[in-house]
Amino acid sequence: MEIREISVIGGFGKTGEPEAVARLDMRMGDVVSIVGPTGSGKTMLINDIALFADANTPSRRRVLVNGEPAPTIFQEDPSRNPIALITQHTTFLSDLPVREFLRIHARIRRTERQESAVEETLAFANELTGEPIIEQAAMTELSGGQTRALLVADAVVIGNSPIILLDEIENAGIDRLRALKLLKRYRKIFIFVTHDLRITLLSDYRVALLRGAMRAIIPRVEEERRVASRIGRIDEIMVAMRDRLRAGEQLIERELLGDLRQVLDAPSAEVMR
Ligand SMILES: Nc1ncnc2c1ncn2[C@@H]1O[C@H](COP(=O)(O)OP(=O)(O)OP(=O)(O)O)[C@@H](O)[C@H]1O
Ligand SMILES: [Mg+2]
Repeated sequence: MEIREISVIGGFGKTGEPEAVARLDMRMGDVVSIVGPTGSGKTMLINDIALFADANTPSRRRVLVNGEPAPTIFQEDPSRNPIALITQHTTFLSDLPVREFLRIHARIRRTERQESAVEETLAFANELTGEPIIEQAAMTELSGGQTRALLVADAVVIGNSPIILLDEIENAGIDRLRALKLLKRYRKIFIFVTHDLRITLLSDYRVALLRGAMRAIIPRVEEERRVASRIGRIDEIMVAMRDRLRAGEQLIERELLGDLRQVLDAPSAEVMR
């Protein structure tokens, strides 16, 4: 089944009030951020999506695929489930070596060109992590960031899942902006739960949650691309300062002010590189 669109029909927030957003439609190719304070129901929302909720979760939301209730096969047969959910707390029970684990997954998924899919997954995961993953290592030996990088790569390449849900990529110790750029090469629906300003601004739109309810869908406007770009430059200044501290140097206030002034003075038209 080709997935064109997935929709969430609003239910109720934590205090029992109906959600302000009555319907959220996400189309193939969309990059969506889920934002809101701690405890506002972000994880609940993506769990509802992953479960194809049908008014049977605390939120009473319903999830539609191409405008219809999801086929039951999605839930009955894991290899037919179009959604990959990468959670906040990921641990592996399998102590298989990494490469062996991926091979088995590729076989179960009946992935085409299994060996090259395993290679592509490992290469992709290694692009996301700081330290490369040792292929002979057991899955249980990977660091938290390596585990999540491998899961993301596995879901995208071997799983070939059209819908990827990621709960708080920034806390995974993986290069979040690089990850987002690499992921955008694949045409999928990406849904990120995030507290990160730049990830939020790189998404097509964001869903804001409060007290368990979807309060608004906010499209990213053109001006925000420029805001994101300026923030990116400020981020670079901070990274450079951190590198200098690491190198045992001292920081100079006048230099910081000079660097910041350059960001401030750059004309809007020039901000987008
Ligand atoms: N619509 C809802 N109806 C009833 N309970 C809800 C609803 N939304 C969230 N909750 C409950 O509120 C609590 C917090 O929700 P959740 O874990 O989804 O928050 P979060 O935004 O992911 O927080 P964090 O940023 O800390 O990860 C959970 O116990 C969850 O079950
Ligand atoms: Mg959460």
